[in-house]
Amino acid sequence: MNAEILATDTPALFHAAVGRAAELLRAGEVVALPTETVYGLAANALDARAVARIFAAKGRPAENPIIVHVAGINMARRCVRQWPRVAQALADAFWPGPLTIVLPRNEIIPDIVTAGGATVGIRWPAHPFIQAVIRQCDFPLAAPSANPSNTVSPTNAGHVRKTLGTKIPLIVDGGQSQVGIESAVMDLTVCPLQLLRPGMIHEESLAAVIGKITVGRKGEEPGVVFKSPGQLRKHYSPKAKTMVLKWHDDADLAARTQAYPSSACWIIAHTQIPSAEKFAGVSVMPHDAEAFGRALYAEWHRCDEMGARVIVMEAVPELPEWAGIADRLRRAAG
Ligand code: TXA
Ligand code: MG
Repeated sequence: MNAEILATDTPALFHAAVGRAAELLRAGEVVALPTETVYGLAANALDARAVARIFAAKGRPAENPIIVHVAGINMARRCVRQWPRVAQALADAFWPGPLTIVLPRNEIIPDIVTAGGATVGIRWPAHPFIQAVIRQCDFPLAAPSANPSNTVSPTNAGHVRKTLGTKIPLIVDGGQSQVGIESAVMDLTVCPLQLLRPGMIHEESLAAVIGKITVGRKGEEPGVVFKSPGQLRKHYSPKAKTMVLKWHDDADLAARTQAYPSSACWIIAHTQIPSAEKFAGVSVMPHDAEAFGRALYAEWHRCDEMGARVIVMEAVPELPEWAGIADRLRRAAG
């Protein structure tokens, strides 16, 4: 099978693609859809057999729960047993947007979605296309990132086609994902409330709305049970060995990477840009965190495509707005 790829950039195309995606989803198929964070591989969240197809296409381990995407608070409330005040406060502040909240699940959500667990992650995404599809279907969509397990998430339709293009019937092209890294995942079933996976919505802005929270660091402590595999180190990785470094100038960079032939190193930098003469490649990244987040995964996909053996990432500032990006760099470096 070769995935049909549908554009959405005129009213007629948008409308036709919504209709086609909804038709396949109603028939229990999986389809790749754009969201503002990364592309998702979606199926009817209320249909266990449809969700099983997501696990098959991604090669996803059954113990990794899937986020349920909704288009509105009412639909979110139907998926959960309680809707506490903190949930409403977070929804008011950040939905639709790149935030997933974890709450006790309702019976309508099948076991396979939550990996058998008692909680479900819910997100109301901001991208207009997936919103229109959810409204047309009138059921929530289970959707992990649309990539094979343990590879870099896709931020455009081409990334999806490259790895899943022969495994799914439809990829909808909704342009470049604007946020570019996965949603922040906030667990509201524990006390204190816990940020399981940082995103572009950061700890400080969450705390401004709901008070003090803790940040999951379980991925760094061996021997604990992982509540959220997104917390595992080495989870969002390019194929190349990835390092995060700081350097002053080209000579300093050469010294710090001398264990590797410079012709094998791909440098991804945003302040100390080296000369591309000595390295396999140099990517120049934006200075501001939002633009950097939007561009990051496309660079990693490009490195994978070029067969880069070593990726050297310039370390990013230790500031709240960079925390989600720093987290992905740390995990890629394992
Ligand atoms: O931005 C995103 O969240 C994207 C788009 C498609 O919405 N989705 C995404 O899904 O990144 P995925 O499956 O690649 O990552 C979901 C993360 C995983 O770390 C998973 O373990 C965690 O959310 N998660 C899902 N349900 C959970 C639950 N009930 N409790 C704890 N963690 C959960
Ligand atoms: Mg993923």
